[in-house]
Amino acid sequence: MDSGLNLIFLGAPGAGKGTQTKKLIDKYHFIHLSTGDLLRKMIQEDDPLGVKAKAYMREGQLVPDALIIDIIKSKMHQGTGYIFDGFPRTLPQAQALEKTTHIDKVVYLEVSDKELIGRLTGRRICRNCGQEYHVSFQPSKKGMNCDKCGGALYQRDDDKEEVIKKRLEVFKSQTAPLLKFYSKKLIKVDGQGIVNEVFSKIVRELSLN
Ligand code: AP5
Repeated sequence: MDSGLNLIFLGAPGAGKGTQTKKLIDKYHFIHLSTGDLLRKMIQEDDPLGVKAKAYMREGQLVPDALIIDIIKSKMHQGTGYIFDGFPRTLPQAQALEKTTHIDKVVYLEVSDKELIGRLTGRRICRNCGQEYHVSFQPSKKGMNCDKCGGALYQRDDDKEEVIKKRLEVFKSQTAPLLKFYSKKLIKVDGQGIVNEVFSKIVRELSLN
């Protein structure tokens, strides 16, 4: 059933937006709109727009607003029940979203740069089933293959340290101004600590129980 809410998850790369929104969706049946996931799917499918986006993503730069706004609009088929993950990331994107739908709350996950870099440089993903690992905190028992399906693990092109630093700079210059834009709807959550503890804080702050 539609929750009646539209939520945005804001946070620097690696803050846990994807991790936490996937848990909320499993429990509360929101519709997940992650622009990063949508772009990666388009790249995998050799979609011409994905090919265009790939060059920006590999460099840690944002994909042009017009392309992102069109993707989001094409995925919205009802008024409420959405969680926007990694969108909006610029003021023009936020202004375009205002014209499309109402936003109830904006959850901002706060995590230190040191922790973000550690999380992202160590992330590995199964090419076959998408299961995520971390070389130190959650290694696969099969080394460079997935515990679940045996698929090969890979590192995202943009999870190399020099690209992560660029993504952090881009977050600070282009996305952080949204904290002011959404100040009346903003819920700040400490994103450090165990995943389930962060999740409990979010659920409490959103009064979802
Ligand atoms: P996108 O895919 O959105 O990536 P990101 O936000 O830069 O980074 P992540 O998605 O990896 O971070 P996250 O906060 O979701 O963290 P996660 O839960 O995965 O975007 C990629 C690129 O696409 C952009 O650089 C840009 O080029 C383009 N793009 C996307 N949207 C765009 C837009 N709107 N406009 C323009 N361009 C756009 O967690 C990260 C890691 O940390 C995982 O390994 C996870 O297991 C681990 N972790 C999570 N929580 C914890 C915890 N509590 N403790 C320990 N580890 C944790």
